[in-house]
Amino acid sequence: KKVVLAYSGGLDTSVILKWLQETYHCEVVTFTADLGQGEELEPARAKALAAGVKAENIFIDDLREEFCRDYVFPMMRANALYEGLYLLGTAIARPLISKRQIEIAHQVGANAVSHGATGKGNDQVRFELGYYALDPDIKVIAPWREWDLTSRSRLIAFAEEHGIEVTKDKRGEAPFSTDANMLHTSSEGKVLEDPWEETPDYVYSRTVNPEEAPDTPEYITVDFERGDAVAINGEGMSPATILETLNEYGRLHGIGRLDLVENRFVGMKSRGMYETPGGTIYLEAHRGIEQLTLDRGAGHLKDELMPRYAELIYNGMWFSPEREMLQAAIDHSQESVTGTVRLKLYKGSVQTVGRKADVSFNLYSQDVVTFEDDKGIYNQRDAEGFIRLNALRLRLLGQRKRGG
Ligand code: ARG
Ligand code: SIN
Repeated sequence: KKVVLAYSGGLDTSVILKWLQETYHCEVVTFTADLGQGEELEPARAKALAAGVKAENIFIDDLREEFCRDYVFPMMRANALYEGLYLLGTAIARPLISKRQIEIAHQVGANAVSHGATGKGNDQVRFELGYYALDPDIKVIAPWREWDLTSRSRLIAFAEEHGIEVTKDKRGEAPFSTDANMLHTSSEGKVLEDPWEETPDYVYSRTVNPEEAPDTPEYITVDFERGDAVAINGEGMSPATILETLNEYGRLHGIGRLDLVENRFVGMKSRGMYETPGGTIYLEAHRGIEQLTLDRGAGHLKDELMPRYAELIYNGMWFSPEREMLQAAIDHSQESVTGTVRLKLYKGSVQTVGRKADVSFNLYSQDVVTFEDDKGIYNQRDAEGFIRLNALRLRLLGQRKRGG
C-alpha cells in the first residue's frame, strides 16, 4: 500500500508523514510543489529521506509556469474576485496540486493521497474535490480529521518522540497560519483572529509598507494578447516571469495588501490578510485593456458571470463542468483583448493611466465620442427618439402616480 502526501517539509506535514507510516503501515511518497512560494525545496528532500522515504518516492516539481499559464492567467481573464476583494491566491493553486498528486499516485501505483489541511477550512474541500474529479476511486486520508493530536503541544510532543525537528518559533505558538505561492501569501489565525485588531506589521512578508514606499510614482506598460499579459515595458516574457516581474513592482510600491473577513465554504467567517502584489497590478492592467477592446454586451455579461466563476474556484469546483462552461465563454470574449496598458504605481495603488490597441482590436472611436465637431458621424437628433421610447414606461408610471 502506498500513499502520496502533499508535503512541504514543515512541522505539520512532517508529523503527518510519520503518522501515516505508523497508523497505516504504508509506504509514503512525498510530493513537494514549487509554486514560487520562495522557499528552498531541497531541505524537504533531506527531511523525507531522514524520515525513511525512499529516494525514488520523493517528488519535487517546479510547477511555476504551468501554474501561471493554465490556472492564474485563465482566472485573471475573468477578473475573478471572491466577495469583491479576494484574488483567490490559495484557491487557484489547490487544483494543480491535486492534479499532480493524482498523476504521481498513478505513476507509482498508490491507491491513496493525503494532505495537511484542517477539517475546518476550504483547502480540504479543494484538495479532495480535485482528487475525486481526477480519480473517482482514490482513497483520501486527511489526518487532521482523524488523529488525536488536537493541540499544538500534542503535535510537538509527537514530533519530539519521533525525532522530527521542531524549530524554536514552532515550540511556542506559531504566530499565524500561512500559505504562499507566486500569486499571493495569505495569513490567518492567532493574532489575526480578532477582526477589530489591525494586522501587525510583522505579518506582511512581500510588500513594503505603502507609507514607506517611494515618494515618486513609477510607470510601467503591460502588453496583452487575447486576454493574457505577454510583455512588460515591451519585453516579452513567459507567464511566470510576467507574474514574478509584477510581484517585484508590487513589492516595491506596497501594492496588493488586503485585510478581509470572508465566508468559508464550510459555513464560518474567517479573517485573513493577503498580499497579492503582482496579481493586483495584473487585474488592474487587464481591466484597463478590456476597457478599450471589449464590447459592452460581452463585458457586462462577463461581469455578471464573474462572481459565480470566482465562487466556483473558491469552493474547489475548478474541475466542474460549470467552471469549464464559464471558462469557455470568458476565453471567447478575450479574442479581441489585445493591446497595451500604461500603469502608474504609487504608494500602495495601481492605476491605469493609458491604454492603446491596434485598429483591429480597438473599439474606442475618438471621431465618434469627441465633443468637437464629429463631421456628422453621430446625429445628436437620434438621441431624442431613443430617450423618448426609453422614457415611455417611466412617463406612464409617473402619470398614474400623479393620479392622471
Ligand atoms: N482563506 C483563504 C482561502 O480560503 C486562504 C487559505 C489559506 N490556507 C492556509 N493553509 N493558511 O483561500
Ligand atoms: C486550513 O484549514 O487548513 C487552512 C484554512 C482553509 O483551508 O480555509
